Amino acid sequence: NKTENQMLIIFGASGDLTARKLVPALFNLFRDGHVPDNFVVLGVSRSNLTDEAFRKKVVLESEYLKNKATVKDFGLIENFSKNLFYEDLGENYDTSYSSLAERIGDLNIEFSIGNNYIFYLSTPPSLFEAISKNLTEQGLNDETEGFKRLIVEKPFGYDLETAKNLNKGIQKYFKESQIYRIDHYLGKETVQNLLVTRFANSIFEPLWNRNYIHHVEITNAESNGVELRGGYYDNSGALRDMFQNHLLQIVSLIVMEPPIAANAQEIRNEKVKALRSLRIMKDEKTLNENTIRAQYVSSKINGEVVKGYREEKDVNPESKTETYAAIKFFVDNWRWKDVPFYVRTAKRMPTKVTEVVIHFKSPHHQIFQDSGMLNKANKLIIRIQPDEGILIKFGVKVPGQGFKVERANLDFYYSSLQETHVMEAYERLLLDAMQGDATLYARADEVEAAWAFVDPILDYWKNGKDVRVHGYSAGAWGPKNADELIEGIGTWRNPSEN
Ligand code: BG6
Repeated sequence: NKTENQMLIIFGASGDLTARKLVPALFNLFRDGHVPDNFVVLGVSRSNLTDEAFRKKVVLESEYLKNKATVKDFGLIENFSKNLFYEDLGENYDTSYSSLAERIGDLNIEFSIGNNYIFYLSTPPSLFEAISKNLTEQGLNDETEGFKRLIVEKPFGYDLETAKNLNKGIQKYFKESQIYRIDHYLGKETVQNLLVTRFANSIFEPLWNRNYIHHVEITNAESNGVELRGGYYDNSGALRDMFQNHLLQIVSLIVMEPPIAANAQEIRNEKVKALRSLRIMKDEKTLNENTIRAQYVSSKINGEVVKGYREEKDVNPESKTETYAAIKFFVDNWRWKDVPFYVRTAKRMPTKVTEVVIHFKSPHHQIFQDSGMLNKANKLIIRIQPDEGILIKFGVKVPGQGFKVERANLDFYYSSLQETHVMEAYERLLLDAMQGDATLYARADEVEAAWAFVDPILDYWKNGKDVRVHGYSAGAWGPKNADELIEGIGTWRNPSEN
């Protein structure tokens, strides 16, 4: 794909994401020859910085870039930094849009950008509509000459209603086809590979349904706590922070029907259908039986005392916000009827790991000894991170007399593809947006369908009678009650096991 000359205008450029993720991703794209000949990054924010100071901050003296660069990269880093500029937008992001527009116009002419602009909003969502409006007033949404695209960062809404308002607010000024809602999980190779595993192999898809799949399990664990983000997190919680977006995106790729082509329109149509088929939990009994929330409590990890969630900085000492969520649900469609899905996500787990486990049914008729147990059934484990790869567990005969069956592994690791540079999520997503490919971005209806499923759970956790917030020791695999959730069917897989 050709990448046209263009300018990326980052709002919130003095924030953490720009230095930590965006600029390093852009540098990698630059280093690997993916950016066009004429490419400008204009940082915009409330801090008072010069171009030089901005270059120093996010490139030349950045711990995320310069300090990690190889010696070979140093010359490149200097060259790269010359593409960066900065414009101060005043205290409230609402003044000086005419001078911003002027600056953009000047850079456009100086670097022959062809009026192709991407606006990346790495700001609080409360500013999305106002920024869109201000850009529109300067004619900066107009595609008569050159493209205009808007990338927005999460959180995309706080619940269904706010997400709808946010969509409406932006869509007043930008067409849906101009809007790119980022979900960095979609930028991960292994998440994209869910599509390839399913639709480029004839051995999986025929089995990918209620006739052969017993249940689906997804684990997303982080060993970190909330770190310095207590203020944000305490208003959010695991369900909003991870489940509504990243994990439901993974669910949609597992659940969806085969699209007729691998393009943005067809893939996203199928994902929306998938999300709309998740059975919404309506009554308190169902919500009570199928959802678990918990918080980590202080504990010792490797001999060191680790704080409990309620003791973390900027967290309300009486907070009920969950750092652990486990949800069991069903998908009401032809393919998945009666197949339970178990999804858990949490902070302060024993390790950082994200994996999908497809548990197949046991053979209908058991003829060998030891092979009838559920835990001996076939499993397909898709390791999203780390040690990215795919593992198939299947039965083999134990050598010797009789027919004793044991489990063996067939595995594939991405690290074995050494010659391939695996792009970081932000690299891939930025490059796609630069080329106008929205396949890996969330569409408005997708985001709303995900909220529609999550909303009743949030509401129940907030207003339901006697809804408990369980505790789990920091560094442990969550509360006991989550084991009960899956009990009738098996146990959660321990991702540390091979
Ligand atoms: C972010 C969440 O979206 O994803 C964080 O806000 C979380 O709380 C992060 O830590 C996890 O991303 P990854 O790529 O490290 O799994």
